[in-house]
Amino acid sequence: MDELVSLCKRRGFVFPASDIYGGINGFWDYGPLGVALKNNIRDSWWRNTVECPPIGPDGEPVSIVGLDSAIIQNPKVWKASGHVDGFSDPMVDCTETKKRYRQDHLELLVPKSGEGLMYAFPENQPDLIAAKLKQARVDHSLFETVTLPEIPVSSYDRVVAPDSKNAGTLTPPRAFNLMFETYIGAIRHEDHKAYLRPETAQGIFLNYKNVLDTMRVKIPFGIAQIGKSFRNEVAPKNFIFRSREFEQMELEWFCPPDEAQTWYQFWKEQRMLWWLSLGINANNLIFRDHDADELAHYSNACVDIEYRYPFTFPGFGELEGIAHRGNYDLTAHQNHSRTKMEYFDQAAQLAAKEAGLDKEDIARKSRYIPHVIEPAGGLTRALLTILCEAFTPDETRPSKVVMKFKPNLAPITAAIFPLINKDGLPEIARGIYQKLRQKYTLQYDAKQSIGKRYARMDEAGTPYCFTIDGDTPQDHSVTVRDRDTAEQHRIAIDRVDEFLAEKMLS
Ligand code: GAP
Repeated sequence: MDELVSLCKRRGFVFPASDIYGGINGFWDYGPLGVALKNNIRDSWWRNTVECPPIGPDGEPVSIVGLDSAIIQNPKVWKASGHVDGFSDPMVDCTETKKRYRQDHLELLVPKSGEGLMYAFPENQPDLIAAKLKQARVDHSLFETVTLPEIPVSSYDRVVAPDSKNAGTLTPPRAFNLMFETYIGAIRHEDHKAYLRPETAQGIFLNYKNVLDTMRVKIPFGIAQIGKSFRNEVAPKNFIFRSREFEQMELEWFCPPDEAQTWYQFWKEQRMLWWLSLGINANNLIFRDHDADELAHYSNACVDIEYRYPFTFPGFGELEGIAHRGNYDLTAHQNHSRTKMEYFDQAAQLAAKEAGLDKEDIARKSRYIPHVIEPAGGLTRALLTILCEAFTPDETRPSKVVMKFKPNLAPITAAIFPLINKDGLPEIARGIYQKLRQKYTLQYDAKQSIGKRYARMDEAGTPYCFTIDGDTPQDHSVTVRDRDTAEQHRIAIDRVDEFLAEKMLS
């Protein structure tokens, strides 16, 4: 991970935000290569979700439209959605070290005898646990591990917090809301308080009726949105994995209540297929079903697609959540805004009548608040995943590392190099560059030795380099170097366009 973070900074993928002022925890800037890669991932999602959506169970493409809603909405939205009251983490403070922890992120060693001190540690840190016990001269086997929420607050006086010397320094848990607050207009008063959105999803629910009334969509259909979200995360960590400002790619799929389970399975499969289409190794991706006690306040069922990050290895960490939200959100907005969210399903009514159902069943099937299946992925987290997946150490190369992005995601598709800066070679190279720059993201580079130029492109993850050399003026061909194998072969100048077009599709 350290090597990846350093490459990201060195090569302009990701910089710490406010770097010259010492940074700001949980915020990142995306450099020239990073934003290009992020945009390519974003465009792939949009293309596969909105412009060319998957084929549904009836053999026709499913119907999905796009949206770009405001980041700041009426604060009543977040009251209705449950975020004002429920979107919080339980936090405990250590009065000795002044450190703050998420209650459920602290593990606890509890003496099996029930007597004596208990030792708290940040989760998944077995080394720390062993060191601390050694220091306290206590036998590990006499303890069992639980999490802090499993013991009553009245026992906190026996808990030694991480890095503290004394027991009893942890405060009882307090809810810490994750939404960033701001004030609208000149007056900083409670009445003017607003929130930066913690998810893009609510903007979609707010526009569900607008879309239904203006577009020719019928249930089932989806609304997709990509945009920034903000969470005042208590512990931003692991580079851009958990940050305070990040981007999400969310789809809200509105469907009849009876079909929700079928669509949940459909989207589960489709989302995995999309991640695989980005070139991620199938062994590095898994589904993980949420346990009932993990479900968010709005969710009936949820499965995460997880990726094997270097910092979770050999385990996995969340990449995308696919939630069955039921009709929680639309019902909440209907109740709070007094706007009817009910849908009249003419086709369902006809089908129910034809099936000979009784009046009550016909009404139930034809008038309902749609249920929602929500595939919600992180765009900045997707960028991290693609960076981790592409990172390939190779001691035999001058760059020592190659970023193996799929050609259609790579920030630079191809580089055009004149071998030397004379004998008419730069003119030929520029000719190729000028001809193809409208179609592909190309980089023309005539500086430094060819080896150094290849090394730079290996680090940038550029899949192909075309070199114009002394033979080119005679045989009208160039050398193409493959990033992944470092092998070179010659192709005719006239074939460069066709060659790249083919590779971009693969
Ligand atoms: N609307 C549902 C929702 O927001 P979530 O699981 O909280 O669900 C969806 O977020 C995705 O957004 C996550 O799977 C993750 O990829 C990304 N995400 C959430 N919090 C993040 C953070 N603090 N930093 C980066 N990405 C985050």
